[in-house]
Amino acid sequence: MRTWIRLMVLALLPLNYLSANDTIYKSNEEKSKEQAIAYAKHGQTSSRYLAYRDIPFFITKYVKGNKTLDYGSGAGFSTRFLCDLNMEAEGVDISEEMLAQASMIYPEIPFYFMQNGNIPVLDQNYDLVFSSYVLFELGSEQEVLNYLGEAKRVMKEDGVLIAVTGSQDMYSRDWYIFNTDYPENKNLESGDLARIYLREAEIEFTDFYWTEADYRLFFKKAGFDLLEVHYPLGKEDEGYAWKDEVACSPFVVFVAKKQ
Ligand SMILES: C[S@@+](CC[C@H](N)C(=O)[O-])C[C@H]1O[C@@H](n2cnc3c(N)ncnc32)[C@H](O)[C@@H]1O
Repeated sequence: MRTWIRLMVLALLPLNYLSANDTIYKSNEEKSKEQAIAYAKHGQTSSRYLAYRDIPFFITKYVKGNKTLDYGSGAGFSTRFLCDLNMEAEGVDISEEMLAQASMIYPEIPFYFMQNGNIPVLDQNYDLVFSSYVLFELGSEQEVLNYLGEAKRVMKEDGVLIAVTGSQDMYSRDWYIFNTDYPENKNLESGDLARIYLREAEIEFTDFYWTEADYRLFFKKAGFDLLEVHYPLGKEDEGYAWKDEVACSPFVVFVAKKQ
């Protein structure tokens, strides 16, 4: 297409369309600076509200101390969430661009770069390892097992892992939070790449779809016992116009301990 025609077409597109496609966040690729900046704007949304609403309850119920790792801390929002719960939290991530955003936005929190799959701390260090929106970025069983294995290594013997990820309903329902109506989401099989649009933040993501049965298997193989498998449901009086969120959940929260 000639340049001037392309420019005219771009000028006519709605802003949402442009921002969504320019900043598409791909789970299976190294994050660019633009993606990290776009992600960093994705702070307190209805998605976070629902995904995190019940986490304080599980921390109070199962976690014995304060020392906490936010494993896959991204732009630091999840780490700040833990600090606000009076946890002594630090973050670790494989993406330098995400860590740069996190350190700039939350200079008071320590963030560490993770190379070759190794968290740069000694064994049995943390009372809580928190994993927020990371498991669905992992595209093979081996990647999930490596990730969980490293979490297990750095947890104290009586430590707890809390992982929030997409449920197996995430890409097939009519949500208030997300639009999931994409051709590639039809007939998904566990391990397939799926597409999702976060309405409030105007970001499109590609993530990996895993069934609950597969997640359960991964935890078992990595040496964890599950304490809870929780689906946070939207409630009437929360100020959000929930749709399918009241009947099933786009998220699943796994609470696990070492076997
Ligand atoms: C969707 S972001 C979530 C960030 C943050 N936890 C939050 O809730 O906003 C996923 C993050 O996980 C990181 N990540 C992906 N694979 C990882 C791995 N194997 N180990 C550690 N971090 C990983 C990515 O670099 C990215 O920053």
